[in-house]
Amino acid sequence: MSFNPDTALVDRHGRLHTYMRVSVTDRCNFRCVYCMPAEGHAWLPRDEVLRFEEIVRIVRVMAPSGLRRVRLTGGEPLLRRDLVDLVAELVATPGIDDVSMTTNAFGLADLAAPLARAGLRRVNISIDSLQPERFAAVTRGGKLASVLDGIAAAHAAGLGPVKLNMVVMRGVNDDEIVPLAEACLPGGALAGAVETVLRFIEYMPFEGRWHENVPAKEIRERLAAAGTLTSDSGTIPGVGPATYARWMPAHGTGSVRVGFIAPLTEHFCALCNRLRLLVDGHLRTCLGYEDTPSLRDLLRSGGSDAELLHAIAAIVRGKPAGHLAETEGGTAFEGVMTSIGG
Ligand code: 5AD
Ligand code: SF4
Repeated sequence: MSFNPDTALVDRHGRLHTYMRVSVTDRCNFRCVYCMPAEGHAWLPRDEVLRFEEIVRIVRVMAPSGLRRVRLTGGEPLLRRDLVDLVAELVATPGIDDVSMTTNAFGLADLAAPLARAGLRRVNISIDSLQPERFAAVTRGGKLASVLDGIAAAHAAGLGPVKLNMVVMRGVNDDEIVPLAEACLPGGALAGAVETVLRFIEYMPFEGRWHENVPAKEIRERLAAAGTLTSDSGTIPGVGPATYARWMPAHGTGSVRVGFIAPLTEHFCALCNRLRLLVDGHLRTCLGYEDTPSLRDLLRSGGSDAELLHAIAAIVRGKPAGHLAETEGGTAFEGVMTSIGG
């Protein structure tokens, strides 16, 4: 692909940005311990939140410079009213060939089918425990049964592969690495009509929320001890920072594709192709840094499409090489995850 160097979504390190996560709300009906402070945080006033037409305009302006895939995030994106309409508009945007969503699946039971009809391709769903009390503790009040209904609805609507995300925290849920994988096997509680892929995510330290990280290497070892783990080079739609493998239990039948996302111990900054459009219009280039400017003021002060694109390309060029977080010491990630969108 060749692009105009003034407007290409390429940074000084040669990384082309084809993927953007768009946070459509900072609100969430859960307060996961790794994501939000216990007291929640002050929601943004409505007029500071990007309107749908502003989101669509930003995406439309970026597509000719290489943006191909958009993922809707939150907070919890399903809380944003008329989300199905936004999906339909993004799907109809020339150049955008993949629109997906990350959700906690509470409420997905009703929305999976309409979202699929609007052209949504896939969903990623957070699930950190299969024990109802523990699930409620980790999400600070979430109902496991509703989330399981949401996962079933995603399968029924064909939003596949259904990717499930487990944030692994030592002493909190690390004893469920194998049980969650087992539940994804054919016939299991998390399996269904389309493929289920289970991804283990290393806990990322945000200010004030420290849980002990379980390195991806250790997660692999625990799976290998309970069955067979073979590396898997097969492609996965929407492939991102995860590395994939296939797991077969020592006892039982079938296998499940598992992924490992290791931002701390196997960090993937060199291949990072992602941008994050935050709910207040900030275009965040790296999870580790929050000092990027807002596009909202430019949009609302009557900037032209060309000005908007030049501003975006300049922000992308300034993207840092990577984050400095490590499992011990190092720098914490900046900001509140719930308004960044994962
Ligand atoms: N560390 C790792 N992953 C996180 N997520 C949210 N906060 C953290 C954190 N501190 C992920 C969850 C969720 C997605 C929205 O972001 O896996 O699925
Ligand atoms: Fe909500 Fe997702 Fe954050 Fe949990 S991880 S509080 S479900 S945004």
